[in-house]
Amino acid sequence: MKRILLVIFAIVCTSVVYAVDYTNVIVPRPVSCESGEGEFVLSAKTVVRAEALNLVRAGEIFAEDLERVLGRELTVKKSSSRTGAINLSVDSTLESEQYMLKVTKAGIWIVGGSERAVFFGLQSLLQIAAASTLENGGLTLAAVTISDKPHFEYRGAMFDVCRHIFTVDEVKRYIDILALHKINKFHWHLTEDQGWRIEIKHYPELSQVGAYRNETIIGRNRKSKVYDDTRYGGVFTQDEVREVVAYAAERYIDVIPEIEMPGHAVAALTTYPHLGCTGGPYEVWTRWGISKNIFCAGKESTFEFIENVLTEVLELFPYKYIHIGGDEAPRDMWKRCPHCQKRIKDEGLKDENELQSYFMERVEKWLNERGRSIIGWDEILKGGISKSATVMSWRGSKGGIAAAKLGNYVVMTPNTHCYIDYYQTSNPVENGEPLGNGRFPVTLRKTYSLDPYAGLNEQQQQYIKGVQVNLWTEYIATFDHIQHMLLPRVAALAETGWSYGNKDYDDFARRMHILRRLYDKKGFVYAPYFFNGIE
Ligand code: ACM
Ligand code: ZN
Repeated sequence: MKRILLVIFAIVCTSVVYAVDYTNVIVPRPVSCESGEGEFVLSAKTVVRAEALNLVRAGEIFAEDLERVLGRELTVKKSSSRTGAINLSVDSTLESEQYMLKVTKAGIWIVGGSERAVFFGLQSLLQIAAASTLENGGLTLAAVTISDKPHFEYRGAMFDVCRHIFTVDEVKRYIDILALHKINKFHWHLTEDQGWRIEIKHYPELSQVGAYRNETIIGRNRKSKVYDDTRYGGVFTQDEVREVVAYAAERYIDVIPEIEMPGHAVAALTTYPHLGCTGGPYEVWTRWGISKNIFCAGKESTFEFIENVLTEVLELFPYKYIHIGGDEAPRDMWKRCPHCQKRIKDEGLKDENELQSYFMERVEKWLNERGRSIIGWDEILKGGISKSATVMSWRGSKGGIAAAKLGNYVVMTPNTHCYIDYYQTSNPVENGEPLGNGRFPVTLRKTYSLDPYAGLNEQQQQYIKGVQVNLWTEYIATFDHIQHMLLPRVAALAETGWSYGNKDYDDFARRMHILRRLYDKKGFVYAPYFFNGIE
């Protein structure tokens, strides 16, 4: 009897703890979350009232999401706030990404420092709603007051659509996943050795030649001679690019295109061989790795090509930042090229490292003159960089640390924590992971443990703009596999970006088990390892 009573007591306690803890379900973890008196029943009759016309769309996106949780449609109106409704408004005295979410008996209020902040508040509300119990067609939400804002202004995710291409709908789905986690930058990797993926009207041949490879290597062994004998490729037309950028904008996500230079350019060189040092011929790459064939830095025609491409890119992408690559550019060809050597001499450069700096700085200056700023991979540090370049630290954090010490802005995306093309358990074969990059495992816990400020004093820390995960797709050909790599690790990155200083892995892990239910409702595919207790 005593034992039965104890069991009953334990069950009651668990449910009580759960009910109280129910206010603490959100990923990334909010700054503060306090429970109040009473509850609000959210039903399909509840109206979303947006004070400004621009917020109506945010309300509609929320309503579409909530339909999956509630099973019924919600009405969204432009209207001043009322009791009994979900009320959305902007208060510009708040910080631009700061929001307050209040659930009371009388209604729900979301007030943000900007429309984007209101959108973040809606994501928190969605997560609370999905964690609540559905009874008689209504969701009972316990009263709560959430006050929240992010730590880092840049919270990003990169998607390589070059090694494998994905549909517009899949790219939008990727953006949906980011939006749920309050990620605000989508870095779209669009040009590569293995395929050029953006239509450029001035250079239509890029879509016919550069966008296709004759076959693709099978498996991971770079020396393998086994290919699939299947032509592969495609491009995003400019209309499709606009559609994606508009879709992201409705979810308050800035899109940063990456046009790679001077390396990872074989698809462009195949299309226009005169842009390479030797003049080719070249072939769009059918395997992975680093090609020695890069843009010639000596010929003026290279810069003419890049400026013409970027002219169209700027029309498509309104956000200030353009990523111009800069990684993995072997100097072999430049060392032997008379044009490149003449450039070194004429410009008084010391060597090929300074030639790369000349290249990047020249393109940066061109972009700066058009009101844009560049981001480059950490290799751009070698040979010197301008004060205004933002460095994306990927070969660990050391490049980012060096850049911050120089006073350059930094996005931390060290492969040790943020390369989510890497395996996610320490025993990938035993755990049945699909083929991945096998350098070392990047577990959920590892991604979570990133400290973007490590090695920097307070003064230097101000140059860390934020964090990002990168999803390269050499071994990822399907969108289910993409999601499997992205989820749940992107949630860990989101929490570092949003909740830095307020992180706790055990608490995060508990909340992830709740968030998982929303992943299920939204039909997101996620890796099972963490949820099954495997690291
Ligand atoms: C990179 O992974 N090559 C930036
Ligand atoms: Zn050259």
